[in-house]
Amino acid sequence: MASVDSLASSLHQRIADALTAALPEAGAADPLLRRSDRADFQANGMLALAKKLKGNPRELAAKVVEGLPKGELISEIEVSGPGFLNITVSDRAITETLAARAADERLGVPVKAEPGTTVIDWAQPNVAKEMHVGHLRSAVIGDAVVKILEFTGEKVISRHHIGDWGTQFGMLIQYLIEHPHELDHKDEREVSGEEAMSNLNRLYKASRALFDSDAEFKERARRRVVDLQAGDEQTLALWRRFVDESKIYFYSVFDKLDMDIQDEDVVGESGYNHMLAETCKLLEESGVAVRSEGALCVFFEDVKGPDGKPVPLIVQKSDGGYGYAATDLSAIRDRVQNLGADTLLYVVDARQALHFKMVFETARRAGWLNDRVHAVQLAFGTVLGKDGKPFKTREGETVRLVDLLDEAIERATAVVREKAGKVGLSEQEITENGRYVGIGAVKYADLSTSAARDYKFDLDQMVSLNGDTSVYLQYAYARIRSIIRKAEGSSPAAHPELPLAPAERALGLHLDQFGETLAEVAAGYEPHKLAAYLYQLSSHFTAFYDQCPVIKADTPEQTANRLFLCELTARTLHQGMELLGIRTPERL
Ligand code: ARG
Repeated sequence: MASVDSLASSLHQRIADALTAALPEAGAADPLLRRSDRADFQANGMLALAKKLKGNPRELAAKVVEGLPKGELISEIEVSGPGFLNITVSDRAITETLAARAADERLGVPVKAEPGTTVIDWAQPNVAKEMHVGHLRSAVIGDAVVKILEFTGEKVISRHHIGDWGTQFGMLIQYLIEHPHELDHKDEREVSGEEAMSNLNRLYKASRALFDSDAEFKERARRRVVDLQAGDEQTLALWRRFVDESKIYFYSVFDKLDMDIQDEDVVGESGYNHMLAETCKLLEESGVAVRSEGALCVFFEDVKGPDGKPVPLIVQKSDGGYGYAATDLSAIRDRVQNLGADTLLYVVDARQALHFKMVFETARRAGWLNDRVHAVQLAFGTVLGKDGKPFKTREGETVRLVDLLDEAIERATAVVREKAGKVGLSEQEITENGRYVGIGAVKYADLSTSAARDYKFDLDQMVSLNGDTSVYLQYAYARIRSIIRKAEGSSPAAHPELPLAPAERALGLHLDQFGETLAEVAAGYEPHKLAAYLYQLSSHFTAFYDQCPVIKADTPEQTANRLFLCELTARTLHQGMELLGIRTPERL
C-alpha cells in the first residue's frame, strides 16, 4: 500500500491535532485529550487555557467546536460541564486509521525522533552459584525492557554484571589446585547445564567444608586471593575455569527461558578491575570520597544507621580491598565514557536500593552523572510463595530456578495436551507449545504486576486458562488465527464505508491505542501496562466475536471488514507478546 503518513498516526493524535489547529491563538496548548466513557474521547484542556487567557472555558470550547474543519474525522462534538469537549469519532475514521496502521509493518507505531543510548544492566547471576527466583525477575523484566526500548528506536546495550570476583574464589581455586581433576569433563561430549552446576555445587561444598575445618587450608585459600588479585597467571587460569563452567549453566537456563544472551554483553565484576584504582583516585582527589579509619568513604546527609550515625558508602576497605561499590562506580564511568550512554538502567532487586542510591549520588558528585546522563534503578520486589513469605522449598532452601521452570513446562504441556486433540496437534507441536506456554506463563506472571511489587509464585494460577494469564492470551491469538484460516474464500479487507457495531468500535478504538500505550510503557519502563493492554485487547475481541458474526456477516464486505479487525487484533497481540518475550503459537 501507498505511503500513509497522515493516517498512520492514531485517532488520538489526529483529534488532538485538529483541536489544536481549531484555536490558533492558543498556540500549541495541549488539549488534554483522553479516552472517555461518555463519548469516545474527552478534551479537558480548555479549562487551563481559559485560565491562562482569562476567558470563559465554555465559550472557548464553543469556539474550538466552531473552528473545527467539517471533515470526516469527528461525527459528534459537544461542550459539557464547565467546558469539556465530548467527542465521538466517525466510524469511517476508525476504519481508515486502522487500515493505515495495518499497512505498516510496525502497526503505525512511530520511532522516537531523537533516540538515546541506554545501557541496561540485567540478568546478573553469580559464578559458582545456583540461580534463584531473584535472578529470574531480573532476566524476565530486563529482556522485555530491552525489546520494548529497541522497538521505540532507542539504542540499547546490555550488560550482564555477573558476580565473578571476590574472596570466595580463593577457596575454590585453592581446592581445585589440591584436587586437580574435579572440574575435568570425562569425555569430549558437551556438558549439560545441570552437570556443570552440579560440578560447581560439589566443589563449592567440599571447599567450604575444608575452609571451615582446616585452618591451614584456610590460610592457603587466603593467600590464593592475594595471588588472584595480583593477576598471577596460573591462578587466573583456574579462576577462568570456574567462570566458564558457570556460563555453561547460565546459558542453559537462559536458553530454557527462551532468551538470547550475547556473550560479549556478559561483562562481570572482574571486567572493571583495571579501573578500580583510578576510580578511587578520582574520587579522593576531587574530595568526593574521604579517608575514614583507613577506608575510603563517601558520606550522605540522609543516610544514617539505626544509631543515628552516618553510614558511608565504602569505596575501598582499610585493607586496600575494593568491593561492590567501587566496581559499580567504575562500571558507570565505562558505560558513560566508553559506551556513550545517556541513560543507565539497572534491573536489580529493590533490596539493593540503598546501594544504588549512594552509588548514583556519588557518581553525580564526581560529575560522571549529570543533566545529560542519568541513572535509574528499575527495582523489583520479592517473589513470594503461596504462603506470602519469600519463596523457599519446604526444607527452607532457595528454590532452584531450573526445577521451577521444568515444573511450569510440565504443567503447561498437560494443559496443551488436553486440548490438542481438537486442534490436531502432533506430539512434536505439543512439546513445543508446552514449552512456549509454560515459559510464557512464568514470564507473564512476573511482567503483569508492576515490578516494584512482590508477587506470589503460583503455578496453578499461572497456567490457568481463565483470567489474566499468558495462556489465555495465547489461546486468544490461536483462536483468531484459526478464524482467519477457516474464512477460506474471504480475505481481510478494510471497508471504511461500513457502519460499525458498538463492539467493533470498542475493539477498534482499543487497537488504536497500541502506539500510545507502548510510548508510555517505554517511557516509564512499565511492561505491566503492556500486559494489561493486551489482556484488555483480548477481552474486547471476545466481546466483538460474541456479538458480531464474522463468516456469517450480512454482506461479503462486512465479513472482509471483520476479518480485517481479526487480523489486526492478532498482529497487535503477537507484536505485544513478542515485546514481552512470549511466543504466540499459530495453533494451540
Ligand atoms: N550479581 C548481583 C546479585 O546477584 C546483581 C548485580 C546487579 N548489578 C549491578 N551492577 N550491581 O545480587
